[in-house]
Amino acid sequence: MSDAAPSKDALKAFALALPKAELHLHIEGSLEPEMLFSLAARNGVEIPFRSVDDVRAAYRFSSLQDFLDIYYQGMNVLQTEEDFFDLTMAYLNRVRADNVRHVEIFFDPQGHTGRGVSFDTAISGILTALGLSKAQFGVTSKLIMCFLRHLPEDDAFETLKHAEPWLDRIEGVGLDSAEAGHPPEAFKRVFGAAAERGLKRVAHAGEEGPPEYVRNALDILKVDRIDHGNRSLEDAALTQRLVEAGVTLTVCPLSNLKLCVVDDMAAHPLKRMLDLGLRATVNSDDPSYFGGYVMDNFAAVIDALDLTRDDIRTLAKNSFAGSFLTENEKRAHMAAIDAVR
Ligand code: ADE
Ligand code: ZN
Repeated sequence: MSDAAPSKDALKAFALALPKAELHLHIEGSLEPEMLFSLAARNGVEIPFRSVDDVRAAYRFSSLQDFLDIYYQGMNVLQTEEDFFDLTMAYLNRVRADNVRHVEIFFDPQGHTGRGVSFDTAISGILTALGLSKAQFGVTSKLIMCFLRHLPEDDAFETLKHAEPWLDRIEGVGLDSAEAGHPPEAFKRVFGAAAERGLKRVAHAGEEGPPEYVRNALDILKVDRIDHGNRSLEDAALTQRLVEAGVTLTVCPLSNLKLCVVDDMAAHPLKRMLDLGLRATVNSDDPSYFGGYVMDNFAAVIDALDLTRDDIRTLAKNSFAGSFLTENEKRAHMAAIDAVR
């Protein structure tokens, strides 16, 4: 028997075989160009593209803001409850192929209410799809509504008010959109109000923003996990704190490459994060814009980094450990992961 390292293909097959959870996914970022066209036609919405190839060619970004401009524009085709249902169902169908068994997805209510589509329209379509996916495929889910940080905190409070009738079906609140110049502390009061309502809290931090934003998300917003968190590594004391507290980082490798958070996948910090003992997970963020779903992200880091089988198993375990499932549910998923040899 040779004890040569497993091939990249063997590692990818292993990653595929492991049950996984996705914890960082913006449902509006799963709008594939084909659906962009079909919904534009169905709703009579004009889009500035002539073909799917045209759209894909436009998906070249030099920064987060570059991407956000196109992301918010794409949302215009989402008009009816059926549109949100179709969008969510397409994502849930797609992740089954990657052996994703649980998803915790974001939606951006203000991206819709700001253009005249009601909170109720968006959430109704999303929740119907999430319910169907559990009944038909056994894929479980939680829904997290994000506040757009480039807008004032008062608007976030308005969104929390829209959410009031739905709170038993919303797991938590998040914070996304343009990070630099929009620090977590600007949302202290609304995150406090969300906590009083029993909602979990997460926030994008350390994607483009400095380590201080990660620290303030923990200390001021009292978040349960950090979305991205890459720049935490610039601060050794913060890194140590994240390790000791077992804070989950929802890392998004292909997103980081597309948004120039890293110059090259070989320079991605995921392996370093695991070696430091950080609870890192692998996620797709906005798969239709960044070049792929969960397994595409695993494949990219397996190709570029020296991940071992143990690393890959740890990533799968971290995805459930960092989820908002119950301890019993987590245990069942961990046992299923241990059973993959
Ligand atoms: N909204 C959708 N994707 C995002 C990201 N990667 N960062 C911040 N806001 C987002
Ligand atoms: Zn994100």
